[in-house]
Amino acid sequence: MSQVFEDLKKLREEAKLGGGLDKIEAQHKKGKLTARERIQLLVDEGSFDEIDMFVKHRSNDFGLEKKKFLGDGVVTGFARIDGRPVAVFSQDFTVFGGSLSETHAEKICKIMDMSMKNGIPVIGLNDSGGARIQEGVVSLGGYADIFLRNTLASGVVPQISAILGPCAGGAVYSPAITDFVFMVKNTSHMFVTGPNVVKTVTHEEVSFEDLGGAETHASKSGVAHFAMESEIEVLEEIRKLMGYIPLNWKDTPPEREFDFEDDLVEPKLDTIVPENPNKPYDMHEIIKLLVDDGEFLEVHKYYAENIIVGFGRIGGISVGVIANQPSVLAGVLDINSSIKGARFIRFCDAFNIPLLVLEDVPGFLPGTEQEWNGIIKHGSKLLFAFCEATVPKVTVITRKAYGGAYDVMNSKHIRGDFNFAWPTAEIAVMGPKGAVEIIFKKEISSAEDPESELNKKLEDYRTKFANPYIAAERGYVDDVIIPSETKTKLVNAFQLLKNKVDNNPKKKHCNIPL
Ligand code: HXC
Repeated sequence: MSQVFEDLKKLREEAKLGGGLDKIEAQHKKGKLTARERIQLLVDEGSFDEIDMFVKHRSNDFGLEKKKFLGDGVVTGFARIDGRPVAVFSQDFTVFGGSLSETHAEKICKIMDMSMKNGIPVIGLNDSGGARIQEGVVSLGGYADIFLRNTLASGVVPQISAILGPCAGGAVYSPAITDFVFMVKNTSHMFVTGPNVVKTVTHEEVSFEDLGGAETHASKSGVAHFAMESEIEVLEEIRKLMGYIPLNWKDTPPEREFDFEDDLVEPKLDTIVPENPNKPYDMHEIIKLLVDDGEFLEVHKYYAENIIVGFGRIGGISVGVIANQPSVLAGVLDINSSIKGARFIRFCDAFNIPLLVLEDVPGFLPGTEQEWNGIIKHGSKLLFAFCEATVPKVTVITRKAYGGAYDVMNSKHIRGDFNFAWPTAEIAVMGPKGAVEIIFKKEISSAEDPESELNKKLEDYRTKFANPYIAAERGYVDDVIIPSETKTKLVNAFQLLKNKVDNNPKKKHCNIPL
């Protein structure tokens, strides 16, 4: 009997070596970890149960029948992160460059199917040369099987992708469909076609890193939500992200203990917004003072920095923060910030994460570049996402709430549950100068002293509109609050909204403007 146990042990040892010691060494030399090392760092110690360790490919072309490796280039299974279950796949570059064969794809599909049935997130650690060239269309079919599952799982269970090596061609579309993409600077790359094809087709000379590296995708394309210095940082950050999100769409995010007896008054909040309405300030300062323990996990930190999105906790409850950033482009909404905000809101709404909106927005960005590239359809994504969201939604207007952007940023009219304004709030159709120059054009130009007439009208306009009280009179803001009281108000609001129920009309699916 002991011999069969020994045989199994040997097989397991063989599987754990992947493509062999020399390939593991080559992987380490590139500054990369192996598939199994990555899983170990990602999940709770000893919690990983591997499945399909003995799977081999079925290809007999191009001499592949003589080259078979246990596991076929991907390690799959189930584990726990902070005690909560997850499904994981980790591509093994030491086996045929982590390329995706029919059986490799079947392994990934199997854990995805299990995760859907059991309501647990899927974390994919990608490091692959793409479709297994020797398998041809069978491999392409394998990708399509995964794309379908990614799509069906969207909004059912959270899907997280780490890109830890190459990810090229159509293969990029699997991570792109998932909820969050993490990349590592210098060792991970994503592109539809690599630098050589780019050179042939467009005659551009571009490096791997510039074309599809972590910084490019985190700051220029927005494909990556997180760009980290090392693989270890990526894996740690995924663990942190897991702490804010539920296991599936019916679950609620994990709640932390919170001491409600604590003094929640924060005097520093009273001095952040400058007296001069045209002076910028950093909205991060406000976010840090409002979220529990100043802990804020920023998503898309380097992309469309005029809007800030990320996760924090208010009174122990996980919330998604969407905040205009007055220190970048005055916090104006443009195409990229609208898309960034909308995608984040839709993730939060799909997974029962309440929204906290901090608003200081002068409007949508004017100009031909924005108009010709479709600010109308892209800006409407943000509006659509806020309108559609049924999770608890709380807004704090810190300063400007002008024009369409007032409506868009989770106003009362589009189902904001609690809308607060600081006394510094200015809620109007547009800023004083633009407004006065339009409505008093004739009076100003025909006045004896046009400049003093303009100043007088500006003063009148500011007195009437550059405050939150007209909106408060109508109930469009529920309360005007001293900034230092904000945390107390938010803790109370999110506690009260804990059991909120709101529904959208039944339909097949909505048609968000794309
Ligand atoms: C089979 C592959 C492979 C692939 C790499 N290998 N990619 N085997 N199919 N797609 C094998 C290599 O033959 C080699 O095997 C080992 O993996 C390591 O590869 P190297 O080239 O030595 O490594 P490196 O120098 O680090 O370069 C990695 C690489 C390069 C950049 C990924 O291998 C490469 O360009 N591969 C091809 C990428 C590609 O064009 N894939 C198809 C994309 S289209 P040995 O035995 O020598 O160790 C696609 C379509 C998806 O994927 C469509 C979805 C709809």
